[in-house]
Amino acid sequence: FNIYKDMRNPDPNRLPVSYEDWEKEARKKLEDGPFYYVKGGAGGERTMEANVSNFNRWQIVPRMLNNVDERDLSINLFDQTFPSPILHAPIGTQSVIHDEGEIGSAKACAELGIPYIASSAATIPMEKIAEAMGDAPRWFQLYWSRDPEIAGSFVKRAEASGYSAIVVTLDTPMMAWREDDLRNVYLPFLIGEGVGNYFTDPAFLAKLDQSPQKDPEAAIMHWTKVFGNTGLTWGDLAFLREHTNLPILLKGILHPEDAELAIEYGVDGIIVSNHGGRQVDGAISAIDALPQVSEVIQDRIPVLMDSGIRRGSDIIKAMALGAKAVLVGRPAMYGLAVAGKRGVKEVLQNLSADLDITLGLIGKRSVNQIDRSVLVEAKNPK
Ligand code: FNR
Repeated sequence: FNIYKDMRNPDPNRLPVSYEDWEKEARKKLEDGPFYYVKGGAGGERTMEANVSNFNRWQIVPRMLNNVDERDLSINLFDQTFPSPILHAPIGTQSVIHDEGEIGSAKACAELGIPYIASSAATIPMEKIAEAMGDAPRWFQLYWSRDPEIAGSFVKRAEASGYSAIVVTLDTPMMAWREDDLRNVYLPFLIGEGVGNYFTDPAFLAKLDQSPQKDPEAAIMHWTKVFGNTGLTWGDLAFLREHTNLPILLKGILHPEDAELAIEYGVDGIIVSNHGGRQVDGAISAIDALPQVSEVIQDRIPVLMDSGIRRGSDIIKAMALGAKAVLVGRPAMYGLAVAGKRGVKEVLQNLSADLDITLGLIGKRSVNQIDRSVLVEAKNPK
């Protein structure tokens, strides 16, 4: 109710509320290159759109008279309790979005206790992000380099700087066909953004003839060679296991058989995701992939989900279809573009408030009570 009480004294500097308004404000702040880098998807953006619109295939059926005075959004993952089922998705090169870059986003999360997933492609090295977060919860996202020494080194550095899980992104062994970026001739990595973790990595630096400060061009060119790894197979996961005792989650699982393989190869969690529709145009939407994947996993390991989460009701639908928690990508980035740390914090707080209100309105006291029975399939989805 506090949210509505504020209306008696509206803040003249108040921030946007809806996802659509945040996007509009972000458009005013950013040049074409960075704006479309955030907004865009692969190819004709059909998967990106389906990620959002296919939530309409499900409808929530609220229940009444259930005493929802006290509500609890908290969840438990890998023996840690988090205040809500919301995590900040890994996003690279945030300094092209706002001067505060990853530090702004990470601090916003730290203030809320929301786990921040630091990207391998961050502008700012993971140790600096960790330092800005104190002992707040954080995970590290690995882009598994073609150079195994770099991959091993990243995992070790993450462990040493207090990241408590490793998220391995599998859907990006190479950059996708992204028409916005091609049109705008814009890839932040090639202008030296997004190399923070590489330019500070001993295994990466050992392969250069000169320091990145002396010859940035050569360092960036070497980065393009080692960044992705199209040669990986399931058996390679053993290499990661040897390098860390932290929980390992696979991000980018869409096929139920890959979910089963994830279990077979001993990972600790999976994230159903199509990278926000940024990799395979025409791929199944994440919300459509989720039920079959959860069905296969059957609570053996936690299933998380991202790609298309915009509102509290989306989180309820994702949890009803088997997700234990969700990751939020573009909404947080529009917050960052509009107002740095303050913007990210506002977006995440609004999403939690929307979730809390909607939870109560459907007659549930805890997110852990959300199950398939809260949903029906829509007859005529739009
Ligand atoms: C991403 N994503 C991403 N994923 C990842 O594993 N490592 C990364 O460095 C990035 N970088 C990145 C940059 C930008 C600008 C965007 C929008 C996305 C994908 C991200 O983690 C997540 O899967 C999607 O953003 C989720 O979809 P929504 O919430 O944006 O619809």
